[in-house]
Amino acid sequence: MKISIIGTGYVGLVQGACFADTGNNVLCMDIDEKKIANLKRGIIPIYEPGLEEMVRRNAQDGRLEFTANLKMAVEKSSIIFLCLPTPQSDDGSADLSRVLKVSESIAEYLNEDKIIVSKSTVPVGTVDRIRQIIRKKAKHDFEVVSNPEFLKEGAAVQDSLKPDRIVIGTRNKKTIGIMTELYAPFVRTGNPVLFMDERSAEMTKYASNAFLASKISFMNELANLCEKVGADIDWVRRGMGTDPRIGPQFLFPGVGYGGSCFPKDVKALMKTSQENEYELKILRAVDEVNANQKKVLVRKLVKHFNGQLRGKCIALWGLAFKPQTDDMRDAPAIEIINALLDLEADIRVHDPIALTRAKVLYDGKIEFCENSYDALKGAEALLIVTEWNEFRRPDLKRMKSLMKKPVVFDGRNIYDPKDMKEAGFTYHGIGRKSID
Ligand SMILES: NC(=O)c1ccc[n+]([C@@H]2O[C@H](COP(=O)([O-])OP(=O)(O)OC[C@H]3O[C@@H](n4cnc5c(N)ncnc54)[C@H](O)[C@@H]3O)[C@@H](O)[C@H]2O)c1
Repeated sequence: MKISIIGTGYVGLVQGACFADTGNNVLCMDIDEKKIANLKRGIIPIYEPGLEEMVRRNAQDGRLEFTANLKMAVEKSSIIFLCLPTPQSDDGSADLSRVLKVSESIAEYLNEDKIIVSKSTVPVGTVDRIRQIIRKKAKHDFEVVSNPEFLKEGAAVQDSLKPDRIVIGTRNKKTIGIMTELYAPFVRTGNPVLFMDERSAEMTKYASNAFLASKISFMNELANLCEKVGADIDWVRRGMGTDPRIGPQFLFPGVGYGGSCFPKDVKALMKTSQENEYELKILRAVDEVNANQKKVLVRKLVKHFNGQLRGKCIALWGLAFKPQTDDMRDAPAIEIINALLDLEADIRVHDPIALTRAKVLYDGKIEFCENSYDALKGAEALLIVTEWNEFRRPDLKRMKSLMKKPVVFDGRNIYDPKDMKEAGFTYHGIGRKSID
């Protein structure tokens, strides 16, 4: 099939590469000309395991091409995927300006019958709006489909090659046939392709992200209560997770959820509910709990130092909003660093992948360390902010020798409080029982 991807970011580039890998001809379009020029030279703008090799291979084989020309992308394809950003607007709603503007251009450039697929996360009713926009100008038949994306950054290629499920919102029989054929190579192990109406598909994406965000906020609330009542959230988590109705995944408390999706999608769904005169009370609490949780680590730190952080050297391990990605959009690390800068602490940071992105935000304000141990030199406390694997089994003796004071605030509960105590560290986790 001839496919165009409009918006070559985390979703567009990964999905484009995966479609090319299954034999389709894919043209990835982006408004960012520098990004396109780099992609043509084999330079990948994001870190995703397995992506670079897949992009290179498919580009070399001529199945994956890049352009900054939207007209060409529309004209050359029979299926057009919209993978455009839908960031949070000032009022909390999803900003649809890019999606709607590109839809206008598609209407103008439509040169034959086509399918337009919305992969961006968009509020219920957006597919209808896209359809109306294109209908005003289009001289050919077209279908607009909702096909929300569920990939996880850090495992995006694997998720796209083997998705848990594919959700497709369309009621058109011919389109159902084409989408079934397109996705057949990805569901050979029997994972479902769920066809439903457009609005249900749009809602499914928000429902999934809002539910996952709720799980995180629920565990964070419980962790905070555990600290007050002398229970250990890690045992509680294990005890809960063995119930198959609950399941073990996504029960880890921490420093709050971040990234480019959960925060904005929770807010956008709240906005949709308000616009429809129905308040999603649960989501309001999820959002509030998360805002509070992003402050938890700094609050513990301030308490430990009696509010005196000026000139104190604080080390941070992990900047990305989660491991295996360089994405720092809405990352808890940003809030933590900003708070520490306000408190006039000296900050030394390490992240295996995200340092380049962090430099754009904090160049000249904090110390960037290429090695995790370098970040510890002279530190009076270490904050674990992202649970990268390389932080899980550190050389505790070496850590202790480098730090001015052996104090760890573990925002991801990756260490055993007992081990830390035996190694001579003062250890603070999230919702953990203190070891006397
Ligand atoms: N990142 C994720 O993990 C993820 C997962 C599921 C769904 N989504 C959703 O997918 C959508 C895209 O997210 P993303 O993370 O890939 O965004 P992104 O910011 O990584 O990529 C979007 C790309 O679109 C380009 N772009 C912006 N305006 C454009 C225009 N007018 N024409 C052409 N290109 C344009 C940008 O330059 C950028 O390269 C969002 O709605 C997001 O909520 C994201």
